[in-house]
Amino acid sequence: MNKWSLNSWESRPQAQAIDYPDSEALTGVVSRLRTLPPLVTSWEIERLKQQIADAQRGNRFLLQGGDCAETLDDCVPTIIANKLKILLQMSLVLIQGGKRPVIRVGRLAGQYAKPRSKPVEERDGQTLPNYFGDLVNQAEFAPNARRIDPHRLLDAYSHAAMTLNFIRSLSGGGFADLHHPEYWDLSFLSRVELPLELRAQYSEYTRQLSEALRFMEALGEGSLDELTRIEFFTSHEGLNLHYEAAQTRRVPRREGYYDLTTHMPWIGERTRALDGAHIEFFRGIRNAVGLKIGPTADPDEIVEVARALNPQDEPGKLVLITRLGAETVHQVLPNLIDKVRRAGRTVLWICDPMHGNTKKLKSGVKTRDFEDILLEIERSFDLHEGCGSHLGGVHFELTGEDVTECTGGGVREVDLDSNYATACDPRLNYRQALEMAFAIARRMQARRRRRR
Ligand code: PEP
Ligand code: CO
Repeated sequence: MNKWSLNSWESRPQAQAIDYPDSEALTGVVSRLRTLPPLVTSWEIERLKQQIADAQRGNRFLLQGGDCAETLDDCVPTIIANKLKILLQMSLVLIQGGKRPVIRVGRLAGQYAKPRSKPVEERDGQTLPNYFGDLVNQAEFAPNARRIDPHRLLDAYSHAAMTLNFIRSLSGGGFADLHHPEYWDLSFLSRVELPLELRAQYSEYTRQLSEALRFMEALGEGSLDELTRIEFFTSHEGLNLHYEAAQTRRVPRREGYYDLTTHMPWIGERTRALDGAHIEFFRGIRNAVGLKIGPTADPDEIVEVARALNPQDEPGKLVLITRLGAETVHQVLPNLIDKVRRAGRTVLWICDPMHGNTKKLKSGVKTRDFEDILLEIERSFDLHEGCGSHLGGVHFELTGEDVTECTGGGVREVDLDSNYATACDPRLNYRQALEMAFAIARRMQARRRRRR
């Protein structure tokens, strides 16, 4: 294999490359980004890796979630806090269900770059560049908005920094205190038509958790600070390699390079070619890396990609995110699991039940159904179990807002119009996300009972 360097990716075929018209401006922006402070630290990255290694051994469960496409306009306190709240609530439900700690990973503070199937979009005879995410251009269908502008790399960096700053303050302060999980939902209870049953179940879970904490405190058990501190990690698709490379550095007293835009970047389904620029770039960094795997993936190639990304088979390094579809998962997953195991690779398997279950309605609206999403997760649990492996996490597109983008859980097809707000794919709303967490928790409980 060739020698890796910070720019060795540039000589590889680059899927989804952005055609920046002004390369001088791009160079200027990238130089500036190189000098700005990192968004995350190597300490946090190493800590997440340890926790993922723990999840690989079955001792933790990973919850990853957030927008399909984060927008700069959504960098406002309520939207950020609501996203944090729903992820905290879901994690609590999953802790109760699985009786294991949950690693919380947001799709946020940098989920600004989107792969597209076509470079241009045509509407009513007008052709413009497609929308590639707020890192590159704007969603509005107008020539100025769709203009590809390298300065947006700096804008996105600043918005990621503001988002992260707010999240760090919230999770470090009283807001996310595990003693008071009832604080996390106050605004929701008045705003959303939450079914009574769900509300009662959630209150019961939080009561049990607070009691358990108090009990352990009374016993003087371990480091409670450690137990009750809410940790929160970030992730995004590492699609724009100019952005990622500009924030990738060596740090004092550690080996190797860290991508300091986020704790866990992932490589998308469209950019994971073995000889491509993305695999070349990400094989050189120390972060844990996610790899999306769609239904047409060649399992042998996935094994090769896993080898390239993690040649020493370091625990905690590689997260395989399958997004196969509820109807296809049984045809594809067992073989994948088998090949990866035979190759002796240490990975964490998690399921993204969103991207294989997207459908287009006659009206042209893209949606996903709650039942399909849940079904892919349930089938993935079963298939892993059947193969002597385990499903170690889930990955959702969701929001803390009361949107109507996916059907089920209180939203009918005819309701989709009422608040369809996503900048890209349909997301679970607050209630759907919480119901999903309960469904998974019930499933985890049933498995534990069967094992006893
Ligand atoms: C995504 O996660 O938004 C995405 C584009 O996923 P995939 O690469 O799996 O299609
Ligand atoms: Co998406």
